[in-house]
Amino acid sequence: MDLFEYQAKELFVKHGVPSSEGRVTDSAEDARAIATEIGKPVMIKAQVKAGGRGKAGGVKFSATPDDAFTNAQNILGLDIKGHITKKILVAEAKDIAEEYYISFLLDRSNRTYLAMCSVEGGMEIEEVAATKPDRLAKVPVDAVKGVDLAFARSIAEQGHLPADVLDAAAVTIQKLWEVFIGEDATLVEVNPLVRTPDNEILALDGKVTLDENAEFRHKKEHEEFADKDATDPLELKAKQHDLNYVKLDGQVGIIGNGAGLVMSTLDVVAYAGENHDGVKPANFLDIGGGASAEVMANGLDVILGDKQVKSVFVNVFGGITACDAVANGIVKALEILGDAATKPLVVRLDGNNVDEGRAILAKANHPLVTLAQTMDEGADKAAELAAAK
Ligand SMILES: Nc1ncnc2c1ncn2[C@@H]1O[C@H](COP(=O)(O)OP(=O)(O)O)[C@@H](O)[C@H]1O
Ligand SMILES: [Mg+2]
Repeated sequence: MDLFEYQAKELFVKHGVPSSEGRVTDSAEDARAIATEIGKPVMIKAQVKAGGRGKAGGVKFSATPDDAFTNAQNILGLDIKGHITKKILVAEAKDIAEEYYISFLLDRSNRTYLAMCSVEGGMEIEEVAATKPDRLAKVPVDAVKGVDLAFARSIAEQGHLPADVLDAAAVTIQKLWEVFIGEDATLVEVNPLVRTPDNEILALDGKVTLDENAEFRHKKEHEEFADKDATDPLELKAKQHDLNYVKLDGQVGIIGNGAGLVMSTLDVVAYAGENHDGVKPANFLDIGGGASAEVMANGLDVILGDKQVKSVFVNVFGGITACDAVANGIVKALEILGDAATKPLVVRLDGNNVDEGRAILAKANHPLVTLAQTMDEGADKAAELAAAK
């Protein structure tokens, strides 16, 4: 999950990374009030998840609260690389002597963490890497040893930061490492990391990506960072039920167990759709190994909530959770949903206890359910039903 700058800076404050005082708002009047409260010139900064905001006119110096108001009015609603600015950060404007670059990231190809540091900050780092590669230090970080003050100083030194700021830079860099590790981030990037005329080292920009696989360790604190406006409501609902769901653009709802099976189900349905008005899969939904009635009901509930869905294909391979348990799950799920279940369901079961599973569905004889023997047959039937609607 990528964070907005103001969210990244909340984490900076938590870990003692020096930055500039500021507050986020969605109103220009508020921006004026915050500027008055800060009592010094401020920067009005567009909060969008895109780089190069400065160049796009999304970062403006404001000498007075009235300037802050005017700049806020201009920046709110501004389109930056396709992202509409809904919020702005009002941050104290700092005097800048020099701008540096520092980041920590997960270096997947080398299976380690990496620190990148350069005295050439402020501009886009890709440009530094391309035009002055010797000015950009890339320092592998041992995950077990981490970054202590001495190592942080060495990172700054390798990035060619001036000798008289190495000690102060080391303190800030070490704290940024604590943000990276403490928050389970895959990226912490500060561009610019600045030196003020009195040699303070401050993080004036912040880009943080959190590792969603580690979310369970930060449930309470990181939950608030989710950008609810930008999340599809069905995906939000699925997430509340801990379902692996991705909304797609088609008409055939898909439920399967195991990511590989679901992926191939999407392919087979898309292929079958070519013979039925070009219908396509409506979603990815993996209900995992234990396909309990409740999980099945939650999954069906999310899929049936998608207005585009015309039919649903349930494709389950019985393993540890055998087909009879899955079949009971489907029957119970339809009971739980009652009148909310309105669209035809094609069910294909195979694997462990398949005969018992099919017998249970045949006996229940639910008017919405059609049984299919094979995956291809099921996909074809589901596509046909979706096209007929
Ligand atoms: N609080 C601040 N005080 C003074 N200058 C700032 C402040 N925040 C940003 N700037 C200046 O604006 C430039 C762009 O802001 P930044 O936050 O880096 O956005 P982006 O990287 O998206 O362009 C910075 O390089 C810096 O020169
Ligand atoms: Mg920047």
